[in-house]
Amino acid sequence: MEKLIEKAEKEHCLSKEEITVLLSDNSINTELFNAADRVRKTFVGDEVHLRALIEFSNICKRNCFYCGLRAENKNIERYRLTPEQIIETAKIAVELGYKTVVLQSGEDAYFTAELLAKIIKQIKKMDVAVTLGVGEMSFEEYKILKDAGADRFLLRIETTDGKLYKKLHPAASFENRKRCLYDLKKLGFETGTGCLVGLPEQTIEALADDILFFKELNADMIGIGPFIPHKDTPLGNFTAGNFELAVKVMAITRLLLPCINIPATTAMETLVKNGRNIALQSGANVVMPNVTALDYRKMYEIYPDKVSVDYSSLLENLKQIGRTVGKDYGNSKNRR
Ligand code: 5AD
Ligand code: SF4
Repeated sequence: MEKLIEKAEKEHCLSKEEITVLLSDNSINTELFNAADRVRKTFVGDEVHLRALIEFSNICKRNCFYCGLRAENKNIERYRLTPEQIIETAKIAVELGYKTVVLQSGEDAYFTAELLAKIIKQIKKMDVAVTLGVGEMSFEEYKILKDAGADRFLLRIETTDGKLYKKLHPAASFENRKRCLYDLKKLGFETGTGCLVGLPEQTIEALADDILFFKELNADMIGIGPFIPHKDTPLGNFTAGNFELAVKVMAITRLLLPCINIPATTAMETLVKNGRNIALQSGANVVMPNVTALDYRKMYEIYPDKVSVDYSSLLENLKQIGRTVGKDYGNSKNRR
């Protein structure tokens, strides 16, 4: 087993079978996490890049079985920030020192590519990197966003198990989701994807495939989070994903894609106290503090009890674990 971790640390390459073996054996977890931490330090250093997350609309036309924002959930109050509010929030984030703003929303048809382009152009004047997380669009729409100055795009594949994908997204197309990711890459976005860990019926082999897919896409960023059940969704009565397993998927991803950016996800911190620190010491190098106004933040309930990081305690905490705050845009080193 040690040999496998050693191989991954040196060669950044593992077969599906080898990944499955690592994911199945919990006696090697500490060793795996330490190896991922070393690879993180060697390839992307001690800097932690902070991204200001703006959740600008919780209106979504899709019906992902796990998500509280799904269109069929009537027990949620919906909101949409105005373009002015979005730009104002970005300005506050930039004044606080953030070098990246992440504009995230449900798939809200009100925000066409043209409207988003106008907002992006205003925010780009503030000398920040702009990341988008607005879901599936056509190549032409993504091009409008890229031409407006957007730098990065987040679109998790969620699971690479086609059958499971179909079950959890009945009206959606797995093929289209992959097409989106390859289009984003083609257009020159720093492209982020990722998966949920612990979905009902998800196998260890499927998680191994997820990791290999990240490598195949040559993703620039990977976000991995444990599934957390939301009562107003079809998966409300299922058990949450396993935290350790989610960290393992993240750690192996760091071993195989040494130069990419990996956030310590909010879902990890929500599931386990100190989850963020454990992630940061097992391969992660990014944190995405939420800067959305509190009233709206509460309404962006993808899953229950989503935690928020307090900025000053985050800085203190990073210092304590021997990490510094990134001073530049924190672009993916995968692309040099
Ligand atoms: N638990 C954890 N993560 C979730 N997401 C959506 N619903 C849940 C849930 N119940 C994640 C998805 C999506 C991201 C915005 O939030 O992976 O891509
Ligand atoms: Fe909409 Fe995204 Fe939630 Fe799916 S995961 S329902 S696309 S907000």
